Amino acid sequence: PAPLRALAQKAGIRIGTAVNSDALADEAPYEAKVGSEFSSVSPENVMKWDTVEPARGTYNYTQADALVSYAKAHGQLVRGHTLVWYNQLPSWVTSGDFTADQLRQVLHDHITSEVKHFKGKIWQWDVVNEAFNDDGSYRDDIWLQKLGPSYIEDAFRWAHQADPKAVLFINDYNIEGVNAKSTAVYDLVAKLRKEGVPLQGVGIQGHLDTQYPAPHDIATNMARFDKLGVQTAITEADVRIPLPADNTEVEAQNEAYQTLLEGCLLTRNCTDFTVWGFTDKYSWVPSTFKGEGQANIFDENYQPKTAYTALSQDL
Ligand code: XIL
Repeated sequence: PAPLRALAQKAGIRIGTAVNSDALADEAPYEAKVGSEFSSVSPENVMKWDTVEPARGTYNYTQADALVSYAKAHGQLVRGHTLVWYNQLPSWVTSGDFTADQLRQVLHDHITSEVKHFKGKIWQWDVVNEAFNDDGSYRDDIWLQKLGPSYIEDAFRWAHQADPKAVLFINDYNIEGVNAKSTAVYDLVAKLRKEGVPLQGVGIQGHLDTQYPAPHDIATNMARFDKLGVQTAITEADVRIPLPADNTEVEAQNEAYQTLLEGCLLTRNCTDFTVWGFTDKYSWVPSTFKGEGQANIFDENYQPKTAYTALSQDL
């Protein structure tokens, strides 16, 4: 059977995976599958703030650079992930006693340095990640508290100045269907684009759970972003299952993966479908969601699961 990346190419999209940089370096079967099955990659952790700038003005790009070279060697594009987030921040940022002006400068310097470092090598940047609550209000994080909501447009302007050709995304979870949160993202994107802020994409993470119904209005939701003239992407698809998994749950998982992929395939400006890790051997799910797992499309021995077949059939 043809690898996913060949099928995706015929379907006119990229298929990506989040990459665990340690596994990529150390484990041959892991490395082989990243190269053979996927046409884009996202760093699972190594472009995040705590890795990239562990101390103010001290930058560490070792593993991220390795991933960028790997991608180039394998004909893959890179999604940069992520510049502004409340999570995985170093303590010098979270506990630093900065005034608003100082923190704005810290954010400016981080974005500018990181985006310049990778200039010309990143296809799509997740500039701002998880800025909203489920009710559509802004997340009350360090950025909102100290800088107010204008940190979002500032971040996009600074990223654009540093690499004018990168496609700049806002990214979030629980925005697959039409709901209060996806509507808040929609309203913000509409407003910022009207004001000329360089924001060109909306990333829909796609972390689903077989315990809850899959969002069957995803294509409807994505269509309204088409009308705003922005790209869209499924950026972090995985479907976790309460363990032990039974057949009903495995089938629900296959359908949920298909629902996400079909949302993208039905959307004119949807450019890529990325899974958040491809093997159950390395998944953020078991440690984050107690009692859940088996969320990926390959098992722990790199064998394709039925979810893999379900995706191939849809492509
Ligand atoms: C997760 C990684 O997979 C973990 O390894 C890490 O410990 C925490 O972050 N939404 C995102 C991703 O945007 O960056 C998160 O990745 C998963 C949720």
